[in-house]
Amino acid sequence: MNPFPQDQWYVAAWSSEIGSDLVSRTICGEPVVLYRTSSSGLVALADRCVHRRYPLSLGTLVGDDLQCGYHGFTYDCSGRCVSVPGQDRVPRTARVRSYPVVERSGWVWIFVGDPERAAGVAVPDTHWLDAPGWTAIGDVARIECRYSLLVDNLLDLSHETYLHAGYIGTPEVAATPTTTEVDEELGTVRVSRHMQGAQIPEFYARSTGMASPIDRWQDIEYRPLGFYRLDARIAPAGHEPAGDGSDPGAAHMKILYAITPETEHSTLDFWAVARDFAVDDADVTEFLDSMQRAIVQQDVDALNLLEPIVAAEERGPGVQELSIAIDSGGLAARRMIEKQRAAH
Ligand SMILES: [Fe+2]
Repeated sequence: MNPFPQDQWYVAAWSSEIGSDLVSRTICGEPVVLYRTSSSGLVALADRCVHRRYPLSLGTLVGDDLQCGYHGFTYDCSGRCVSVPGQDRVPRTARVRSYPVVERSGWVWIFVGDPERAAGVAVPDTHWLDAPGWTAIGDVARIECRYSLLVDNLLDLSHETYLHAGYIGTPEVAATPTTTEVDEELGTVRVSRHMQGAQIPEFYARSTGMASPIDRWQDIEYRPLGFYRLDARIAPAGHEPAGDGSDPGAAHMKILYAITPETEHSTLDFWAVARDFAVDDADVTEFLDSMQRAIVQQDVDALNLLEPIVAAEERGPGVQELSIAIDSGGLAARRMIEKQRAAH
């Protein structure tokens, strides 16, 4: 069984990371080199020369072609070798793998699996990252842990109360039960927690200007493996959305995570926070950026610590893992990911 679900779009980079320099990434265990052509198109090729396996990311761009830094084998944007040293004839099999790649709202997505299937698989909706009426911040963190630990972390937000106390956690998060819905057809797991009359955490108090008590909704939609969206709603306690679907007086956030397995023991955690309030307020942007960075770092530190523990226990006689009601979303996600892996 492949350790990573195939035939899926994964975020490979922020658009801003890919310029005229060659960028090397490992995605689902596969070495990839990314670059931008003179016409701003994106190219993603296997990062190994067919000749002696030298990383192409250590080579040079010659126009839009990529020249290996070891012996000069040169590839065009489709991965076809167009020139080799010392002979005119280029072997017909001289080609490196080219990956389908698309750029949407600041994220660069790469298709891992059979490239023929890419057109039939939808790229997740992230339009809030650059939609009118919204402002977004974001970055990427590398975690020295298997992807499943990050999936567990994001599907169970009760950890906010403890790991992120003083930032985004208050006692109500862990105390309020969740509901979990699995949609096999859409391939989604939804976990919802609606808190009434809750304390407002620092993250929302300073950004929205609201005060306790608030109603705080957390509606997660996870699309295994690589895409997670948390719809957050903050409103003065008792304030209901209008009947027409609008919700004036409430603040909304789309907290996005793209989970990209790097190796079996490391993961790229692309995060973004989009908001529909105080969209032009630079102080709010700066505050949320520093808060979210601290929160992500708390998760990174916890998961970096967990990985060697989980890995050691895996090699040992076997330790029973205990799950409770809060884990229903995470367990549903695990089942869906296992099914995806088994399909290949
Ligand atoms: Fe967290």
